Amino acid sequence: MNPVRDKTFGMSADSSSSRVSNGVNPKNIRNFSIIAHVDHGKSTLADRLLERTKTIPARLMRDQVLDRMDLERERGITIKMQPVRMVWKPNHSDRRNDAELTQKNAEGAEFLYSDLTYKIRGILFLVRKNLGLGHKEQIYHNALEIEFRKEGLAFDSKKNISLRYDGKSIGTYQPDFVIENKVLIELKALPEIGRTQTEQIWSYLKGCEYKLALLVNFGSKDLEIKRIVYDTARVSALSAFATPQTPADSTQNSQKSEPHPGIVPRYSASNPRVLRDSEYILNLIDTPGHIDFSYEVSRALHAVEGVLLVVDSTQGVQAQTLTTLAMAQAQGCVIIPVVSKIDSPAARVDEVKAELAKLVNVPMSDVLAVSGKTGEGVDTLLEAIVKKVPAPRASESASEPRGLIFDFSYSTHRGIAVYVRAFDGTFKKGQSLTFRAAGKDFIALETGIFTPGETPADSLSTGEIGYIVTGIKESGVVAVGDTIGITKGSLPALPGYERPRPVVWASVYPESQDDLPLLRKSLERLRLSDSSLSFEEESSGVLGRGFRCGFLGLLHLEIITERLRREFNLALVVTIPTISYVITRTNGEHEIIYTPAKFPEHGDIERIEEPWANVVIITPPGSVSVLVQLLYEHEARTLSSETYQDSRIKMTVEMPLRELMRGFFDRLKNISSGYASLSYEILPERPADVVRLDILVADEPVPAFARVVARRRAQEEGENMVEKLHNMLPKQLFTTKIQARVQGRIISSRTLSAMRKDVTGYLYGGDVSRKNKLLDKQKRGKKKMLERGRGKVHIPEEVFMKMVRVED
Ligand code: GTP
Repeated sequence: MNPVRDKTFGMSADSSSSRVSNGVNPKNIRNFSIIAHVDHGKSTLADRLLERTKTIPARLMRDQVLDRMDLERERGITIKMQPVRMVWKPNHSDRRNDAELTQKNAEGAEFLYSDLTYKIRGILFLVRKNLGLGHKEQIYHNALEIEFRKEGLAFDSKKNISLRYDGKSIGTYQPDFVIENKVLIELKALPEIGRTQTEQIWSYLKGCEYKLALLVNFGSKDLEIKRIVYDTARVSALSAFATPQTPADSTQNSQKSEPHPGIVPRYSASNPRVLRDSEYILNLIDTPGHIDFSYEVSRALHAVEGVLLVVDSTQGVQAQTLTTLAMAQAQGCVIIPVVSKIDSPAARVDEVKAELAKLVNVPMSDVLAVSGKTGEGVDTLLEAIVKKVPAPRASESASEPRGLIFDFSYSTHRGIAVYVRAFDGTFKKGQSLTFRAAGKDFIALETGIFTPGETPADSLSTGEIGYIVTGIKESGVVAVGDTIGITKGSLPALPGYERPRPVVWASVYPESQDDLPLLRKSLERLRLSDSSLSFEEESSGVLGRGFRCGFLGLLHLEIITERLRREFNLALVVTIPTISYVITRTNGEHEIIYTPAKFPEHGDIERIEEPWANVVIITPPGSVSVLVQLLYEHEARTLSSETYQDSRIKMTVEMPLRELMRGFFDRLKNISSGYASLSYEILPERPADVVRLDILVADEPVPAFARVVARRRAQEEGENMVEKLHNMLPKQLFTTKIQARVQGRIISSRTLSAMRKDVTGYLYGGDVSRKNKLLDKQKRGKKKMLERGRGKVHIPEEVFMKMVRVED
């Protein structure tokens, strides 16, 4: 599947100018993923990796740069990140004790006071996030004071710095802050900061004892941070070659400036490179994380040799940590344990390190500690990746290319581009290739790498990760997990391919029937980049025509329907999701039912089966007794429980998927005040004791209201639905029965009294028999209407929607 992949990452659109020639020795490649529970800091850490490896020019760096879909950035969830190729040279770092000094290596491009700068930068971003943009300087000044204090940074906001000329003091300058007596901060709230402001700060630095200033602008489109260094030694050394032009050493965020001579970052998106000695290519590919995409996770993990297992030091191990770890271990990945957010005041670094060390069975000293916010520990982490993640195996039969598809994207002019891990041989433009499972041939129109935008490269050889443009514009051909190889090649397909199987079903109808063709086209379009989406047309009385769609899970459903709404501007009715059941008839025939109205009511059924789930729950100790009750209500069977050092309880249970989807997670969050975490894995089908529940209105079943429910809950569900409809349905001209029926038996019934039109109202006084005559006439009329079928109940659209649709 690919919920997000049909947007080309916009960073190197002009890729023609940056063709890369490869031929990289696999010994210098490290392929890895980051796995973590939701919100444990994966994207923020990835940002720092990009920054330290100078993969993205600093001026283009923004928060969570690899989260590409609006939906992801808005909600702060990563559905999947862009793959990216970085270049790193070990010992390129300033991990020395005197790390605060400028380290001049071959490139002469190290940061002055790097750790402190990262810390300040983290605070600036935090304030920007909390306050937004557009306030006066003083507002930011006050907020920063609070945050600096919280972080324990020594600062002075009233310091008068003496400016010297010819050895004599000629006046003073008062910057907004002096941090730790090392870094000056000058705050601005300007539409943009130009050369004048930069020059001014540089001039101040020139005249005083400080070497580094941060020029920070909150007034622009986004937070701008300009790092200005005055380094006498460097300037005089450089002046031997060129006159120093601009004082900017390096820039961050959205401003452009001329780089200081000699300090141009060597590795930028527009300047991908030929690898030098002792440099390594680090390919980061993301796993979609959420359990809906576990098959894709397994394929992504198959494409890498190592993973960073990131655990938030303020939270500890959570349910999803365990599930993703198990998957990484099953794929034989080397695990690098990392605790994140160590800068946070709530961090329990040692405790969480111990927990993680125990989990992956390594000494505590092997657990790394990082902060994605300040950048602390990131260099050590990069070095650990080079040291611990094995290089890809060199191909034994280099003659023929073979690779695994772990993702793909679609664009109108180039068709599908598959994201590939090359396991053997070399892929090149012009080759005739085949998708093994799909049996489809095509010519490779382009090969390339992710920098992180798609950048053409001459070839992709063993161990490398990149993309191949196929030109294919049909949906349903390309699938994650398929093997790509040379047409009529002799190597077998890579193991583990499966066709994605929907787990959850829901109907999607356009609010206006005029939009039906657009909805069909949009679903087809989404399927081009998401082979796990399936749909077929159906029709329902009130809703008209629409589609019954299959999804990998509830998050997948949410992503697809949200994309239909946003990207195709569709107003939709999405019905309550259901799962599928496997019915075995007495004659041995199997049938998969994914629409409740088609579920057999009774008859020749031998067996009904439904999917189960293995569920891991981690919860604080206080909520355990309520949890036990909740598990009972949801038909769960406890397999094991374990207590962590911090008294949290881990429980492993199994339950029908139907019960897991019946609001289990919401109730779990409720009873644990939001602290519990949950992760699950779908298990094969098991026998189910379920029945179809029909809702009848005026003795007519309404197919769209049908549900499949546990036999033991049929009574309660039936009563609830009857009650709900009884409360919502407007009175009709005649008495209307609302009933719930299971296997031919009415289990609940309410009567909606008739709306009584006052047919005698206009009579003033007069004869009683006249009144009765009119009432009799009314009664006969209603009876006749019923007999002719004209007395059919009209269920207003809004009532209908409320009964069937998922609440937004
Ligand atoms: P998902 O994409 O939802 O899986 O989250 P994620 O694991 O990618 O986490 P993300 O990087 O989006 O960070 C989650 C939250 O933690 C955000 O509010 C970050 O600002 C915050 N955060 C991330 N890293 C750090 C860190 O090193 N220190 C602190 N203090 N906060 C951090």
